Amino acid sequence: MAIRGYVFDAYGTLFDVHSVVEAGRALTADPVALSMLWRQKQLEYTWLRSLMGRYEDFWAVTEAALRHSVKRLGVVATDAALARLMDAYQTLACFPEVREALQRLAGRPRAILSNGSPRMLAAAVASSRLDDLLEHVISVDRVKVYKPAPAVYALGPATLGVRADELLFVSSNAWDVAGAKAFGYRVAWCNRAGGPEEELGVRADYVVSNLTEIPIH
Ligand code: LAC
Repeated sequence: MAIRGYVFDAYGTLFDVHSVVEAGRALTADPVALSMLWRQKQLEYTWLRSLMGRYEDFWAVTEAALRHSVKRLGVVATDAALARLMDAYQTLACFPEVREALQRLAGRPRAILSNGSPRMLAAAVASSRLDDLLEHVISVDRVKVYKPAPAVYALGPATLGVRADELLFVSSNAWDVAGAKAFGYRVAWCNRAGGPEEELGVRADYVVSNLTEIPIH
């Protein structure tokens, strides 16, 4: 069956969340540890809030995760310093091959489907000048629950007007790959780091090491 559209995860897949490391240097001698913990807590809070039925948007979740992470690592940070780190999240670098990869897929709808709030996604897309390479930017904010809730993945087929099994969902996050596959998409896992797959009983249809290798048929 031909692929009739592409749905991309944003953070970690198109945008490098660890590009905040530079901004973190002003606060700590180990900005990598801060960045890793911040990302992990951010995801945990999305899962916890979804299970609790207490959605707050991704900006609020990301800020709460940052506050927890600095405390846990014993980093002293003023509100202004935390605000600068949050600002860095609006202008995350995209991975180097993203433009070329999206150009290669032109002719079929290309979408982002992300936990990010509409404002955060608009800022990141504009900052990487990807506007002309994406037909849709879809935020979980429409359904007020986070990945991997099926209601989130359902936004892809509903917005593009294409069945999930005719869409290729692309993510670097192994748990997101599992969520999308469980929902019914065809899925490509962009496994940049060569990590192990999740043991969740579902597997990606394709595994690529960067986004230019995404199948087009
Ligand atoms: C997103 C998270 C999974 O962009 O990174 O949806």
